[in-house]
Amino acid sequence: MSQRVLTGVTTTGTPHLGNYVGAIRPAVAASREPGVESFLFLADLHALIKCDDPARVARSRLEIAATWLACGLDPERVTFYRQSDIPEVPELNWLLTCVTSKGLMNRAHAYKAAADANLAQGEEEDAGVTLGLFCYPVLMAADILMFNAHRVPVGRDQIQHIEMARDIASRFNHLFGQGRELFVLPQAQIDEAVATLPGLDGRKMSKSYDNTLPLFHGGAKLLRETVTRIVTDSRLPGEPKDPEGSALVMIHDAVATADQRTAFHADLRAGLGWGEAKARTTDILESHLAPMRERYEALLARPDELEDILLHGARKARAVATPLLQALREAVGLGRLAHHRVDHAVNHPMGLGGSAAARAPTNAAGPDKLATFKQYRQADGRFYFKLTAPDGSVLLQSQGFESGQDAGQWVKRIRSEGLTAAQAAPVALGPGVDWARVQAALQALAAQDAQG
Ligand code: TRP
Repeated sequence: MSQRVLTGVTTTGTPHLGNYVGAIRPAVAASREPGVESFLFLADLHALIKCDDPARVARSRLEIAATWLACGLDPERVTFYRQSDIPEVPELNWLLTCVTSKGLMNRAHAYKAAADANLAQGEEEDAGVTLGLFCYPVLMAADILMFNAHRVPVGRDQIQHIEMARDIASRFNHLFGQGRELFVLPQAQIDEAVATLPGLDGRKMSKSYDNTLPLFHGGAKLLRETVTRIVTDSRLPGEPKDPEGSALVMIHDAVATADQRTAFHADLRAGLGWGEAKARTTDILESHLAPMRERYEALLARPDELEDILLHGARKARAVATPLLQALREAVGLGRLAHHRVDHAVNHPMGLGGSAAARAPTNAAGPDKLATFKQYRQADGRFYFKLTAPDGSVLLQSQGFESGQDAGQWVKRIRSEGLTAAQAAPVALGPGVDWARVQAALQALAAQDAQG
């Protein structure tokens, strides 16, 4: 079975080098591996948690879509879509919310950071915390589980969210799977070589710290200016410098070749000045980014085309999401009524069933999709049975019996014993029985019988 790889980028702000190194580049690379099925999306529902400026969210979606395509994403190979175009995702979010403990969310980093900051400022713990922020990891779990992703390339800071998605998935499997794995348990995929990219001030590169290096926005000029703002220590040219832990070096290394890295580290140890080091870093970044920046600008000029590409992706994504969500609805008891046969006497001998077994869904195909046995008498005075497929075609036709009881005995035996009994029964072969279809039909009936 092919590996499913999925990742998303929150659509607030303009893509920066940290997004590129931590998410976009590894995802694009993974999408080119053979045997990999990639899902890449714009997390625009997540954007609303952090941003109540509609113009900014809208602009950001456009820029991020153009960025990924410019970075080599092939929308034919990859399912590339906007989260908000997939209504199944918020619906799954609700199903997951109902099995997620509040305690798990209390421990989520994003929420804890906000709560700790409030306490430090003498504020009430939850001041300014929305339920969107608090439940952020559940929506992220829905993004991942909706497509049964095996691997999720993310930055280190997102590992906890992937672990929470695993927790939520196994709880859901346990509660509703009846031994089946409704959800694949996803795994975070961290590119060890880059980990989290530091920003200009050495903290994680993040819009919220205002320490980012723009990827394309502002062109070569802004890139050069921004690199000069990267914080370094005060060592003078000629003094040996430690490349370890330097934000400038880490940014350099994120796009440099192995040879360029080795040379850069050696030169710094030998006393290369920070000014020189920044110029070299700018050159390396510029040669890496310039060709992609050109494609980016061409795409931004054609928003209609971008829209079409995203809607095409949404159709592909929903082709996966819709049947899975239907199965999940069945699993939790929200299937179509016609699929559920409530028999109080048999199903709920203890009164109203609250147990998992009592809430078990009936066969997912539903009784209307099952084959049926019919017993009847013909003009020759003899008794017959037949097994008819849901489409009306006759799978099995008996020979005539002396009594209705004889015919009934055989039906009973075939229903309880299956194919071997059917093959032993006196059937009229006609043009030939399709035993594979008979077997499938009998198995489906048996599964339904087992569920009562
Ligand atoms: N939370 C991620 C971030 O801020 C974005 C995201 C949303 C995501 N849903 C996801 C990433 C699902 C991977 C998988 O970077």
